[in-house]
Amino acid sequence: TGQVALDIGFVNTASCTSEITYIDGDAGILRYRGYPIDQLAGKASFLEVSYLLIYGELPTADQLAAFDDRIRRHTLLHEDLKGFFNGFPRDAHPMPVLSSAVSALSTFYQDSLDPFDQRQVELSTVRLLAKLPTIAAYAYKKSVGQPMLYPDNSLGLVENFLRMTFGFPAEPYEADPELVKALDMLFVLHADHEQNCSTSTVRLVGSAQANMFASISSGIHALSGPLHGGANSSVLEMLEAIKRDGGDIGHFVDRVKNKEPGVKLMGFGHRVYKNYDPRAALVKATADTVLNKLGGNNELLDLARQLEDIALNDDYFIQRKLYPNVDFYTGLIYRAMGFPTKMFTVLFALGRLPGWIAQWREMIEDPATKIGRPRQVYTGPTERSFVELSQR
Ligand code: CMC
Repeated sequence: TGQVALDIGFVNTASCTSEITYIDGDAGILRYRGYPIDQLAGKASFLEVSYLLIYGELPTADQLAAFDDRIRRHTLLHEDLKGFFNGFPRDAHPMPVLSSAVSALSTFYQDSLDPFDQRQVELSTVRLLAKLPTIAAYAYKKSVGQPMLYPDNSLGLVENFLRMTFGFPAEPYEADPELVKALDMLFVLHADHEQNCSTSTVRLVGSAQANMFASISSGIHALSGPLHGGANSSVLEMLEAIKRDGGDIGHFVDRVKNKEPGVKLMGFGHRVYKNYDPRAALVKATADTVLNKLGGNNELLDLARQLEDIALNDDYFIQRKLYPNVDFYTGLIYRAMGFPTKMFTVLFALGRLPGWIAQWREMIEDPATKIGRPRQVYTGPTERSFVELSQR
């Protein structure tokens, strides 16, 4: 059926048109709905940015208040869904717990599954935004064997999440406002990144008209990979390993350059950015302030900085245009905030959620959408004749 073009990893193939996020990888530019990321980060809240990505415009104060109010009303999980968490082993990684729970939402909220019913799409949008922080906090509590806390809807999204994560039932918990601000900003930096692996997964699954919960659960699985969102935990593990081995950065960089199996400079390189990732620049600037305020591990931060300096001046990295990406410094901040390494990619998922929702909705609403069905170039045997089992 005609010629097909081979493009492994979709390096040159656009799968859709989109009005949501613009990236110029050579210039290191990232814009959400036209707004440069450095103008949004630190100025617009995560909720404002979520609204912007999903509905296309920044909200007015009234629109934002109504959106916030709706989300606060949906933070509770069905009690039976809570029981679901007990079925996992104690040391379960929180990422598969997160994706399983999101998948399970489609069994609990069957009144919001129709992709073509505007009211139902709206309802699943709000449910996901409201419930993912609760699910993430439950996954954390499960992993440390502590009691789960109900959401406190007098609190904003990030504060509520921090309280459910680090608080205890009968004890008051007040999140450090610096911590709330920093985490909110990191969520903004992660909120969308056009057709990356997890977002493409969400769109591909959704193109079969699978519901939003099913599509986003699939996206969470894609994000968990170490080449994608899983890189933020890998960076910290890498820094700790270098420190354990005596802090010899030069030796580690040599191993990367010699392409030792499994040895990469995690948090470096990007399919689209062939320049400094604009998000990494913003994270790096924050790391210093946050770590000083929260008393983080400055030794690892110093190691990361030296590693970056060496890599940016080394021919291997210069020739391949490898720069730090968003994951290079985030882990250090998350660690300073008190999150275990296992939770880092969950935080990425919380940040990326509005992007997945916006992209899923754009895909469903676009009359040009067709089921995603890549072609292949067949390289197996040509026709041959079947041999009976007794003859083989
Ligand atoms: N360390 C060492 N060498 C690298 C790295 C790295 N981190 N990244 C790319 N290279 C080399 C690669 O070996 C190849 O070299 P050669 O031409 O000699 O074969 C060249 O650079 C081009 O790399 P590629 O693998 O063809 O690039 P890609 O676009 O397929 O991969 C990437 C992009 C992000 C998967 C890759 O750079 C990588 O594995 N980085 C480390 C993991 C990471 O930090 N991921 C987070 C990405 S940003 C956030 C997100 O998307 O979640």
